[in-house]
Amino acid sequence: MTPDEFRKNAHELVEWMAGYLENVEKYPVKSQVKPGEIFKQIPDKAPSDTEPFGQIMKDFEEIIMPGITHWQNPNFFAYFPANTSPPSILAEMIIATLGAQCMNWETSPAAAELEEKMMIWLRELTGLPEYFEGVIQDTASTATLAAIITAREKTTGFSVNDNGAASAGILRVYCSEQAHSSVEKAVKISGIGKNNLIKIPVRDDFSMDPASLEDAVAADKMKGYLPCCVVATIGTTGTTAVDPIRAIGEICSKNNVWLHVDAAMAGTALILPEFQWMIDGKEYIDSFLFNPHKWMFTNFDCTAFFIKDAELLIRTFEILPEYLKTRTRGQVNDYRDWGIPLGRRFRALKLWSVIRSYGVEGLRKRIRDHILFASRLEQMIRKETDFEILAPVVINVVCFRYLPAGSNEKQVNALNEKLNHLLNDTGRIYLSHTMLNGKYTLRMVTGQTNVTLDHVEKAWELIRKTARTLKP
Ligand SMILES: Cc1ncc(COP(=O)(O)O)c(C=O)c1O
Repeated sequence: MTPDEFRKNAHELVEWMAGYLENVEKYPVKSQVKPGEIFKQIPDKAPSDTEPFGQIMKDFEEIIMPGITHWQNPNFFAYFPANTSPPSILAEMIIATLGAQCMNWETSPAAAELEEKMMIWLRELTGLPEYFEGVIQDTASTATLAAIITAREKTTGFSVNDNGAASAGILRVYCSEQAHSSVEKAVKISGIGKNNLIKIPVRDDFSMDPASLEDAVAADKMKGYLPCCVVATIGTTGTTAVDPIRAIGEICSKNNVWLHVDAAMAGTALILPEFQWMIDGKEYIDSFLFNPHKWMFTNFDCTAFFIKDAELLIRTFEILPEYLKTRTRGQVNDYRDWGIPLGRRFRALKLWSVIRSYGVEGLRKRIRDHILFASRLEQMIRKETDFEILAPVVINVVCFRYLPAGSNEKQVNALNEKLNHLLNDTGRIYLSHTMLNGKYTLRMVTGQTNVTLDHVEKAWELIRKTARTLKP
């Protein structure tokens, strides 16, 4: 592609992008294609000759777009959001154009220094203590893995890195029954082993029960195990329950156990002074993550990971082959030593663009609106006698089910599963589900960048009407 062709294609693409964002509500939220439908339309062999970009775009529209689920449609109420926003997209365009690989300070000093400053901004905005240092990771899963490996090394005096898992004794990690599956994945990858992840029971509000944690740690110590790390969640995936950080932190501190906090989605709410209660006990936290790529309008991927003692993280991950030695080592942050991958994208630019474009007050307003929509939805659901709220509404997730009179639990579960599929098959809204105490639970998340109260009210109307057409 010549520079002139690039310019022409890029201008046309920007038109397409702006049109997409304007019209995103017109697409079915959840892709309606069947398995294999896209695959069979793509040739089995790569083309041997050049193809014009116009042809690629035509095929993109005809073949690929029907297989896209539109996460940026404000009627996307499933999972947790993966929000983007115009300033984030613009920054991604620059990032892609520069194509800088930011593994060391020297391979792009601006990327390293902007990242350092953005982490200071986010630390201040979320109210974390000043001694925390931050680094951007690709995902929460990677950040939790980095935290657990660092905790493993601290607990074992850095012996597993040198001598392997067999040298260490049996380490134990703890999280609640409602913690995200990325904790289990990290425990498996880190060599601690899934059977050494202890799932602590939750209280009625689905948050971790600290008394059970204390008992579990004490029992493990009696058996000669090495308690290594507790992963507490602020905003569990199922219901956004908030584990009690202070009570958990006191247990960690007494037993010399690492406290990692996963606030993947809900961490964004910490920018609101009225949600600072979620990190009461923050002085006990050793590491903390949240995903601006979920709720803070910064497109995937961008996880903010903070650590109390960055030296421990660096000592765990640093490695220095000859070809990576630089003259500035020791004077600057070489973020390749702060996590798993060597190569790094210039993600800080997205944060810079988003935070400056919205302004802190603009971010706060959007986040407050989303939280308000969830509480309005809860009120609407509570008015109906044939619906039931199944978990406290803490932030931006409402958990509920259809509960027509005279049905047994099995029928109600089947009915709600059917309702979920029927709604998603309309293409008008997209909801996902969880199981709470054996109950099939519909989750509606009011956190998409452009969602309004009108979207929420119309979605609720559709849910109510569709549910009442169903027979047990
Ligand atoms: C609480 C929690 N932690 C971690 C994750 C994993 O996030 P990521 O995709 O960034 O690894 C999720 C995903 O939804 C989550 O809800």
